[in-house]
Amino acid sequence: MIAPSLLSADFARLADEMAAVSGQPGQGADWLHVDVMDAHFVPNLTLGLPVVQSLLNSTDVPLDCHLMIENPDRWAIGYAEAGAHNVTVHAEAADDPVAIARDLRAAGAKAGLSIKPDTPLEPYTDILKHYDTLLVMSVEPGFGGQKFIAEVLDKTRRARRMVDTGHLNLVVEIDGGINTDTIEQAAEAGVDCFVAGSAVYGADDPVRAVEGLRGQAAG
Ligand code: DX5
Ligand code: ZN
Repeated sequence: MIAPSLLSADFARLADEMAAVSGQPGQGADWLHVDVMDAHFVPNLTLGLPVVQSLLNSTDVPLDCHLMIENPDRWAIGYAEAGAHNVTVHAEAADDPVAIARDLRAAGAKAGLSIKPDTPLEPYTDILKHYDTLLVMSVEPGFGGQKFIAEVLDKTRRARRMVDTGHLNLVVEIDGGINTDTIEQAAEAGVDCFVAGSAVYGADDPVRAVEGLRGQAAG
């Protein structure tokens, strides 16, 4: 799956920018990745629930909300109740990640857990059974257009192995620095879903960029 990140889109034209990556049936974005930042958990500020509600009314593509915020225990549920397909919280910010996952699923959303590049996977392996998505950050969260951190591929491979051996049922997602130079290494490490911001919205033809990345990921 390819999930273009709206962080690299024109925020004054978000509905058009979502349409620009939708393509014909069978093409284009599988999920649309929406980066919610609160200027506390990360040093950047983007958009919040009212904007996400409007986005949900303007597209049929499932929204993948990546919450880079403090206190997701309080705020994540609103995104699920609004109708987001997948809601991802950061392990580093969550007080009770099991309770968050339970509430997200009860509200009808998929539950995602994200870990920053320096955050190890192992402390969370026991709770991953409560989650549907593991989002491995391959840049420090906060900004688009950063360089891919290849060191995260080891823990990505470990997550893949846990899924393949039947110990977990997770979509393994990667976010940050994914482009035509890096997507193959991520695919080899076992990623299922690739977030790409600048590589898609920086291209002249965003749908072609999505299809190019998909082709490369498939090998
Ligand atoms: C960064 C965000 C990413 C960002 C990726 O904190 O979580 O989703 O949009 O942008 P690129 O693909 O340009 O690295
Ligand atoms: Zn993101």
